[in-house]
Amino acid sequence: MRSRAQKVFQHLDPAPDAVVVANSTEPHLDQSFFYLTNVPHGLFEDSLAIAHPDGEVDLITIRLEEETARETAKSDPHLKVHVVERDSSDATIQKLLQGAGTVGLNFHELTHSWFVRLSSLFPDTKWTDASAAIRSARSVKEPAEVELLRKAAQFGSEVALEIPSLLRTGMTELELAAEMEHRMNLHGASGRSFATIVAFGPHGAEPHFEPTESRLQPGQSIVCDFGAIHRRYVSDITRSFHFGPRNDELKAVHDTVEKAQTAALEVIRPGAPARDIHLAAAAVIDASPWKGRLTHGVGHSIGLAVHDGWGYGAKADDTVEEGMVFTVEPGIYLPGKGGVRIEDDVVVTKSGFEFLTTAPRSYLEVPA
Ligand code: GLY
Ligand code: MN
Ligand code: MN
Repeated sequence: MRSRAQKVFQHLDPAPDAVVVANSTEPHLDQSFFYLTNVPHGLFEDSLAIAHPDGEVDLITIRLEEETARETAKSDPHLKVHVVERDSSDATIQKLLQGAGTVGLNFHELTHSWFVRLSSLFPDTKWTDASAAIRSARSVKEPAEVELLRKAAQFGSEVALEIPSLLRTGMTELELAAEMEHRMNLHGASGRSFATIVAFGPHGAEPHFEPTESRLQPGQSIVCDFGAIHRRYVSDITRSFHFGPRNDELKAVHDTVEKAQTAALEVIRPGAPARDIHLAAAAVIDASPWKGRLTHGVGHSIGLAVHDGWGYGAKADDTVEEGMVFTVEPGIYLPGKGGVRIEDDVVVTKSGFEFLTTAPRSYLEVPA
């Protein structure tokens, strides 16, 4: 198997002499630094990964995370660790990049201060954008990455199953979100992959809603969109519920979203244009009374980040490949009334796909 550095260089033509991924400080950590070095935990603030065309990666870090770095290198023959004193890495960087005329950078994530610093260390170097190559390498997962994503998805699925038992008249969106996050941690997650979305009633019409003090009333729809982290890898799952007496319109909306998701899933196989997955879901929704109420692209890649590099809507030009992991999340949003979204995580196999999230997708009416 190619090393991760080699996978990046495979997408670079002409190849630069090296690719540098400079990590910044929280919250500006570059997940591509963690992709190249594979260090399992720690922030590695201001650390640097230098990838070389032969597959070697130099990791420059400080004593704070030395043990993790050295432990990782024991099982990765491509990784070389250089420990420096804080704020004293210039000489090491200059030595390791000596003679490099062209260096690729992750333009998409690099902070301006790192760029200024690198430019002053190497005034004659030509900097090129390696972001697309890094994105392409990261988008096709290794079997070990798929297993980490599967575990993260399992934590989300377990909590999705528990949500009906948590619902109480009068509870706030914030309380439900806190309960869900706590349970993900109890199942084994190391954290939430993004701020949990809990939206009661009309709030469900906004896909990226943030929970409030709003209280649950019988007759409301509930959208819960959340995910877990497992060894840096994340999941992203949405389930929609109905609380109390049935609302025929919202039940029909849920049925339509379910059909849209099924239509989208049927498209997934290596070689399929990603936009066709979106278009299949959109066609079902646009043939229903809720035409035009799908207000976002139907999915996005997941991995080390919840939006891991690419997403797909009607104009996407990515092609599905075996090993890609992404969400399939159609929704219908009705301002003033509510919303329904169903979101699952899938991995592309040789001939189709496999679910990573496993919670049932069917409509759930929870008695008030
Ligand atoms: N959780 C945000 C999204 O589904 O993209
Ligand atoms: Mn998502
Ligand atoms: Mn989501």
